[in-house]
Amino acid sequence: MNKKITIAIDGYSSTGKSTIAKQLAHQLGYVYVDSGAMYRAMTLFSMQHGYISSNHFDVVSLINNLDNAHLEFIYNHSLGFGEMYLNKVNVEKTIRTLEVSNYVSKVSATPEVRKKLVTIQKEMGKHKAVVMDGRDIGTVVFTDAELKIFMTSTAETRAQRRFDELIQKGEQVSYKDVYTNVVERDSLDTTRKDSPLVKADDAIEIDNSHLTKEKQFEIILKLVEEKLRDV
Ligand code: DC
Repeated sequence: MNKKITIAIDGYSSTGKSTIAKQLAHQLGYVYVDSGAMYRAMTLFSMQHGYISSNHFDVVSLINNLDNAHLEFIYNHSLGFGEMYLNKVNVEKTIRTLEVSNYVSKVSATPEVRKKLVTIQKEMGKHKAVVMDGRDIGTVVFTDAELKIFMTSTAETRAQRRFDELIQKGEQVSYKDVYTNVVERDSLDTTRKDSPLVKADDAIEIDNSHLTKEKQFEIILKLVEEKLRDV
């Protein structure tokens, strides 16, 4: 397949966006970009420097020091995708903890942070052949993406998936805490002023609460093939 398109996958947290995006990128030979990892890395940066903690958020210091956070994805051949590096350190594991998840919505609601990351994301997608997942990919980052998918599923299904994932990674968490985080992030992500999570008018909604991963992949791959025929 020589034709290259841009695929934007948006949706609520823990809808399995990254799994499907990675699979698609692999199948098509495209680059996969996990934009959430970038917001998570900025959150870790804020934690490392004491800009955010359980009872305070020094947004001014974060904004003044944005240039000190260097983010890059470095391809890991054995995993088959790029891992997130913050100031030359692989932070792929650290950014997935519940602690980072608990602060990430605040950091990602900061317009200056969004501006920095959206600029990098646009640059990464300028040659197309990219699958990017996040919250504002179809509405802000790649408004002209040929294919936009909006993934949903119930909060209970998503919390259970996230809980299973964290337990498997050895994190000591309760289902209740994970559920609370999922619901709170839904609320913060959809109500923030700058680029709230919203389905783009031209996005195709897929509710995967009752879909197997295989069925979901089959549906989305069919959509990709239709788009590739059209362009
Ligand atoms: O996809 P994720 O759950 O790893 O994303 C973490 C957080 O980052 C999510 O709660 C909202 C934010 N985010 C965002 O605001 N915009 C994006 N494009 C991606 C993620």
